[in-house]
Amino acid sequence: MPETKILVLHGPNLNLLGSREPEIYGRDTLADIDTRVDSLAAELGVAVEARQSNHEGELVTWVQQAGAEGFGAVIINAGAYTHTSIALRDALAACRLPVIEVHLSNIYKREPFRHTSLIADVAVGQIAGFGAGSYLLALRAAAGILT
Ligand code: DQA
Repeated sequence: MPETKILVLHGPNLNLLGSREPEIYGRDTLADIDTRVDSLAAELGVAVEARQSNHEGELVTWVQQAGAEGFGAVIINAGAYTHTSIALRDALAACRLPVIEVHLSNIYKREPFRHTSLIADVAVGQIAGFGAGSYLLALRAAAGILT
């Protein structure tokens, strides 16, 4: 029976949600999103733990430790590190857990530098463009994999 504890990671600048470019990211704060994720998790019968960091190395460490901490899957919005971080990509590839990549915005409708994700091909799949709803879709996907 796989672990049904899911780690939700929010990368840099996502702590600013609510006031950060609301026309792109919406008006929900990160706390609002985490609350919605928590209630869906309860409905789906899985446990979630959400963490946010503006630091690449901290995200890498959390991914490295996820398996040993008993997580069965990782949902990650790596923010701008999506497009730049080979270190985070390598950690996700090494963690041997199913990874689901999330973005609030549709990165393919935006600037060309956002069209490349260094994470996409080490993830099971990517969900982008549904605002806070992207996290809920990702949670359904992760729960579907684990249960
Ligand atoms: C983002 C998209 C990234 O390009 C950007 O750097 C972010 C947020 C999103 O959720 O749409 O910080 O990951």
